[in-house]
Amino acid sequence: MCGIVGYIGQKEKTMNVLLNGLERLEYRGYDSTGIAYFHKNNVEILKKTGKLNQLKNVVNKNIQSEIGIGHTRWATHGKPSELNAHPHCCGKITAVHNGIIENMNSLKKKLQDEGISFISDTDTEVLVALLNYEYEHTNHMVTAMERTMSQIIGSYAVVFINEDDKDCLYVMKKDSPLLLGIGNQETYIASDMSAFCEFTNQYCILDDEEYGVVEKNHYHIYKDGKEIKKDIEKIEGLSCLSNKEAYDCYMHKEIYDIPKILKELFTFYEDEHSHLIPDYKKYHKIQIVACGSAYHAGMIGKCLFEQFANFPVEVEYASEYRYKTIFADENTLVIFVSQSGETADTIACAKKIKSMGVDSLAIVNVYNSTLSRLTNYVYYMKAGEERAVATTKGYSSQVAIFVILLREWMKQQKTWSKELEAMYQDGKEKLLKVITPCLKQYEHFSWISNLINQPSNFFIGRRSDYALSMEASLKLKEVSYLNSSAYAAGELKHGTISLIEEKTPVFAIATDEYTYSKTKSNLMEVKARGGYVILATLDTLDDSIDVDEKIIIPDVNPLFQSIMTILPFQLLSYHVAKKLKLDIDHPRNLAKSVTVE
Ligand code: G6P
Repeated sequence: MCGIVGYIGQKEKTMNVLLNGLERLEYRGYDSTGIAYFHKNNVEILKKTGKLNQLKNVVNKNIQSEIGIGHTRWATHGKPSELNAHPHCCGKITAVHNGIIENMNSLKKKLQDEGISFISDTDTEVLVALLNYEYEHTNHMVTAMERTMSQIIGSYAVVFINEDDKDCLYVMKKDSPLLLGIGNQETYIASDMSAFCEFTNQYCILDDEEYGVVEKNHYHIYKDGKEIKKDIEKIEGLSCLSNKEAYDCYMHKEIYDIPKILKELFTFYEDEHSHLIPDYKKYHKIQIVACGSAYHAGMIGKCLFEQFANFPVEVEYASEYRYKTIFADENTLVIFVSQSGETADTIACAKKIKSMGVDSLAIVNVYNSTLSRLTNYVYYMKAGEERAVATTKGYSSQVAIFVILLREWMKQQKTWSKELEAMYQDGKEKLLKVITPCLKQYEHFSWISNLINQPSNFFIGRRSDYALSMEASLKLKEVSYLNSSAYAAGELKHGTISLIEEKTPVFAIATDEYTYSKTKSNLMEVKARGGYVILATLDTLDDSIDVDEKIIIPDVNPLFQSIMTILPFQLLSYHVAKKLKLDIDHPRNLAKSVTVE
């Protein structure tokens, strides 16, 4: 979602830092862009709808300016347009903002009553007008920020400049991420460190309700009216940046990253690093809370724990969990799963759980992300930077972490038998051996055209195959815009089967020996109604079934099967989107880091 950059430092560097920073934040998803900077004592603002290149085409990269701010906007209030794009200006204040001002209507009314008029539909313009109003009435920017923050309800990461102070930037933060990058005689500001990590490896994270003044060689951060000292942290190696290499898009490249990531992940956690939680025995219940694909990974986690550890697990959407009655106590472990570690709903749940004193564990990719700092324990996914909006390697490593966690959990409970360890070692070895050659096999599906132009695609499965169906269906929908839904295979006949017509594509994922024959019967029901049936099954399961197409998946073993089974579907989605000539890495309307609820 919205990405923010700010810079104060060398005048010949500003444009480069802003445009590069915005490019690094493109992966978050956006629909318009803009920058503002001081030039010859004036504030200049440039905005464009569409991709960053539109903005780059109109920016004079030789402009010399010591201070600038930039933004990629993902529309919340008002459609994507130049008027609604950031930066927004009111009086002396020009700002970029990520988040949502929930009480914008009452604030807007109050400001309108004071004679202030607005030109955009955005909540950000209201915020800027309020800042300017308070500045005009106090003539002191820090006080104006405090007064503004006391009136706004909602989430915000804000960076702004004030025409009266040409040697500093201002920042305010609550519930949306904001970091400072500390350079030599220069300071960077961004929504995440990828925007500045090629320039500096020193940074500090702003916490909720902090605000301050950022200069070239120092910064003053305040909370509740008092200046506070911030810890400076170091980015470990500058490995946070990745590139496409020879691949045509990041999604394709990231699918091919999976074998290497898994190998490193298993090695890392098999060494001394898996023993994160001192006492698993105290827990009577696990709740897994996440959004999107991370939720689907959580569903696989549930299947693993229930099948192998005989342990009850609940999985909840974070957007629901945050508003429901929570049944968790000192014997509950709440596991939050999030690639970015910045998803607003997941973070809200983690804050709630923390305030209840309930133990929590994060499965997260981004080092030092908000979520990782809110929970008692963290399993890092170690998937490297993921830039395609639709997750692939992130999802795979989340599922792998659940296998690792299950092993560690059962070892502590003394229920991890020699047979299970043999199964683990054997399955892991098999998986790592077959995964790369298999990816190559799934590069060509001759029947892709049969999915396109159909009103709907369906995915069905049972148990972990149902969880995989949900992820496969989401992936297809995300990147190809084909209508697609997933169902528990047995549920199809309770309504949805009415939608099956001649040639309706129905994917059945049936890799689970225990339920194979049941899913097969459901498939036959679809076939009898003219559906176009694609069966994804194991090379070891009964092959005699009459379907339209088959995707054959190597039998790894039930511990690791889900990691293997999702791969053809990730590649299928990529190939459909490619055939439709879509922007695979940046699907319309989607954001990678969903920082508003
Ligand atoms: C967005 C992304 C998905 C992701 C979901 C949760 O919708 O496009 O790929 O699964 O957010 O994100 P998280 O960072 O919490 O895993």
